[in-house]
Amino acid sequence: MSPFSRRDGLLHAEGVPLTQVAAAHGTPCYVYSRAALLERLAEFRQALAGRDALVCYAVKANSNLAILDQFARAGCGFDIVSGGELLRVIAAGGDPARVVFSGVGKTADEMRLALERGILCFNVESAAELERLDAVAGRLGRRAPVALRVNPDVDAKTHPYISTGLRGNKFGVAVDAALALYRRARELPHIEIAGIACHIGSQLLDPAPAAEAARKILALADRLAAEGIVLRHIDLGGGIGIRYRDETPPAIADYLAPILSLLAGRKERILFEPGRALVGNAGLLLTRIEYLKQGEEKNFAVVDAAMNDLLRPALYDAWHEILPVQVAEGDGVLYQVVGPVCESGDFLGKDRRLAVRAGDLLAVMSAGAYGMAMSSNYNSRPRAAEVLVDGERMHLARPREALDQLFASESPLPRA
Ligand code: LLP
Repeated sequence: MSPFSRRDGLLHAEGVPLTQVAAAHGTPCYVYSRAALLERLAEFRQALAGRDALVCYAVKANSNLAILDQFARAGCGFDIVSGGELLRVIAAGGDPARVVFSGVGKTADEMRLALERGILCFNVESAAELERLDAVAGRLGRRAPVALRVNPDVDAKTHPYISTGLRGNKFGVAVDAALALYRRARELPHIEIAGIACHIGSQLLDPAPAAEAARKILALADRLAAEGIVLRHIDLGGGIGIRYRDETPPAIADYLAPILSLLAGRKERILFEPGRALVGNAGLLLTRIEYLKQGEEKNFAVVDAAMNDLLRPALYDAWHEILPVQVAEGDGVLYQVVGPVCESGDFLGKDRRLAVRAGDLLAVMSAGAYGMAMSSNYNSRPRAAEVLVDGERMHLARPREALDQLFASESPLPRA
């Protein structure tokens, strides 16, 4: 059931009318449903029941502490891509021993931090990174747990910007190179081989490419075993897609079923790194119409949220449903829903039929993943507020940035 539904024509987040959220915290404002997050997590867990499995929530999708706290309390692991994300996880009460560290550009400082905090595994993406990690761990007198992120060269059939498992991508090491790199890892004194990892892309709607990737990874794990390199875990990444418009993503259990049947009877622990699937449809962006403007060719609804708040439409031409918070009479008019930023690419939706007036609230749906997390201060716009709703209660998870915070840490050259 959607966590966002209408009562007497008024859109609610769980038990809270969105008009009440706007009155209390203003707009633009991200609104998340706690029940929705936990429901999706439960779905994941149910699909993995009876297996030695760990769900490592991909922090990059939505890194607000209130969200991380929910997953930490539920016993989740986390997939991070920076030292900043690690400190967020720890601040939210997450267990570093359940953290995997992905990314092609880990700095020595980030490696040190992660080693000191005792993370579960570094997902190493290149030979150079492996050597650096060995050196950093050596200086600390530790051994770094490592999985090689293998690029299985399968087409995830998703947007090219978020497809990561093809030969031409910057991510991971090729299957053929992986064997040699594992042999090298075995020789390095401060590296401990823990597992193998892959992640082929995001917003995947078809389980077949993920199963194909898993098949290749398992074949590689078997070759490694034949050489005496035994893996403790297999990390199959994230990527499960959600419905934004009319996509028909499989249920989590159906998406995982072909992968899990490949894994039947294996001893390794299984890790997944879902981001969007857990939080995407658990959040919306609440915005108010500032002006309705009749252009020569098109009508514009100028709202108070912009590409700096939600970049996905501008960056990927992504489609997010836009709903009036209060339903009104009439057929409506076609609008370009645009923000105040000085770029023609600053739109949240194109050609949307809406029956609205200036001052009305709109909800930009499916904005829980890669919404706030990709926001910026472009045009010196303060970042939006974030509210987590739990039943009838709303919790301010992050207040709107104050204008003077925008430049509080900047300093001009002193005058002579
Ligand atoms: N693991 C790794 C190594 C990743 O790179 C990603 C996402 C995930 C897990 C989580 O993927 P998910 O389950 O959320 O699909 N900004 C884009 C999405 C970029 C995804 C990057 N990597 C968007 O707004 O669609």
